[in-house]
Amino acid sequence: MPADIRMRNTASTKRHVMHVTTQVPELQTWIAGRRSAGDRIALVPTMGYFHDGHLALIDEARRQAGKVVVSSFVNPLQFGPGEDLDQYPRDDERDRQLAEDRGVDLLFRPSVAIMYPPGSEIHVVPGAAGADWEGTFRPGHFEGVLTVVAKLFHLVAPDVACFGQKDIQQATLVRQMVRDLDWNVDIVVVPTVREPDGLALSSRNVYLSESERRQALGLSGALAEAHRAWRAGERTAAGVKARMQSHLDAVGRLEIEYIAVVDPARFQPVAAVDDETVVAVAGRVGRTRLIDNIVLSRGLG
Ligand code: PAJ
Repeated sequence: MPADIRMRNTASTKRHVMHVTTQVPELQTWIAGRRSAGDRIALVPTMGYFHDGHLALIDEARRQAGKVVVSSFVNPLQFGPGEDLDQYPRDDERDRQLAEDRGVDLLFRPSVAIMYPPGSEIHVVPGAAGADWEGTFRPGHFEGVLTVVAKLFHLVAPDVACFGQKDIQQATLVRQMVRDLDWNVDIVVVPTVREPDGLALSSRNVYLSESERRQALGLSGALAEAHRAWRAGERTAAGVKARMQSHLDAVGRLEIEYIAVVDPARFQPVAAVDDETVVAVAGRVGRTRLIDNIVLSRGLG
């Protein structure tokens, strides 16, 4: 778009005002007002420190509903001992600006004391689809995720909620929770947003040094290799994994935790690669833990 047209458009656009609150009663009054006006509400749960992946979720939420609520809460319940809860990157002012510029209607950023007042102890327990992979390497993680998502779903009562394919096992478990607990909310999964060189965007990428960032490309590189193998007709999980492993061996210096070739609904290993088979990978570069995945029929999402 030529710059002059863009400027004219911006100048003529009415300035969007975003509501920001840390308080549950204020959130709920706002929600009740939108509901009585007949608005459809979309929720995007996040832990803040927005990047283009979060913004893609916000854009999808905007397509799905008239009003977009974003929550930003670094949820202590989903971090294990020794994980990066204390170092998790935060920038509230930058997030507020990005959300407002993107047309978010309400930004909810509660404190830990508001989300977990003293005495809170009931949690949501994931089933078999949460037992392996991330479930093995981050014990208790999905229990923390599902518990906070359940609370957010109750507080906001959205018609639709958007999650990223980047955390595909998480999205699968949220879908299952909604089904198993009879929630009336549509779960929309948005394809992974990547850097031009393939690295999946993640708030944790800020931890990477320049050389670690290069090594981190091994993950998306291995997934691209899996996709090439699939396109070339490879239909066994063992064959796909072998291709990925030889790519990773060549790249070196990436400590791989798992390569999962699983069915998309249950996250159980499959021997034969089928339409919609998920290939997920997790590893460490230095002290940073990264995850990535593709759905084979769709390629590098
Ligand atoms: P967070 O890591 O902040 O991610 C918020 C949402 O953004 C998740 O649905 C995640 O899958 C999505 N996302 C992250 N990186 C993405 C990318 N590169 N492309 C597309 N989407 C991406 O995931 C969480 O927070 C938390 O576990 C949460 C669900 C908020 C519960 O606390």
